[in-house]
Amino acid sequence: MNLPLRLLQVTQFLDYKNINQKILIDLGCDHGLLSIYLYKYYFFKKIYGLDQSKTAIANALKNKKKYLPELKNDNLHFLVADGLKWLQNNTNILIDYIIVAGLGTHFALNLLKLKLDNVKCYVFCLNTDISKIRSSLKKYHLFLKEEAIVKIKNHYYFFIKITKAKTNFLMENPYQEFIGSYYLQNFDFIYLNYLQRLEEKFLKLMYIIPKKSKKYLLILRKLNFIYKYQKSIYNKLNLNL
Ligand SMILES: C[S@@+](CC[C@H](N)C(=O)[O-])C[C@H]1O[C@@H](n2cnc3c(N)ncnc32)[C@H](O)[C@@H]1O
Repeated sequence: MNLPLRLLQVTQFLDYKNINQKILIDLGCDHGLLSIYLYKYYFFKKIYGLDQSKTAIANALKNKKKYLPELKNDNLHFLVADGLKWLQNNTNILIDYIIVAGLGTHFALNLLKLKLDNVKCYVFCLNTDISKIRSSLKKYHLFLKEEAIVKIKNHYYFFIKITKAKTNFLMENPYQEFIGSYYLQNFDFIYLNYLQRLEEKFLKLMYIIPKKSKKYLLILRKLNFIYKYQKSIYNKLNLNL
């Protein structure tokens, strides 16, 4: 079975050591392909694919039969449920990973807000700016473990792995939050490309937004962060542009 590139990137964020002891939640699993792929090839102890849509879960069950026809008494469960409520009602389950792909920043923030003590690690895949997620981590005593960016058909997808365990990627000021301390320590060409696109968008906006407005000042600040980051990268790469 093939996974879309976006979901394949998610699988790169998981630690497969002692995988047969790990429990994973695929929140908003839809077709269930990610859960099925992980269960089929990586032998998780238990995977729950949750989706609030009955049609989605019916499709996931169909796909389970298609890709795992031999399976009986297994530990791959597809359930119709509001993921946030389900998690609040199941705090007795020790969860190694919660994966949320394609549900947006607002949903991810609402999930973190639950402050679930029984969750070791979150992996989010989003198609919007994730600086709001970075900024919220300190408040919930969570840490950034890894980030990635993928460009598919001219769209950027952002991946962020968040853990309970402390990491070196500190978020101590707005610059680190906006650029992301992961990218301050790890150069990524696609990320640089994304920031260039963002710069162009901001410059266009500055023509139409009133000069003394809050939004204008916010954009100006973000632009400064982008220029600071670009300068540091060009210096590191020894490029005289
Ligand atoms: C855009 S799809 C993403 C599917 C899949 N994760 C992927 O990346 O291909 C979002 C899915 O999340 C489900 N969803 C939205 N809110 C939810 C919630 N509160 N609890 C469970 N599922 C939810 C929707 O029904 C939909 O199937």
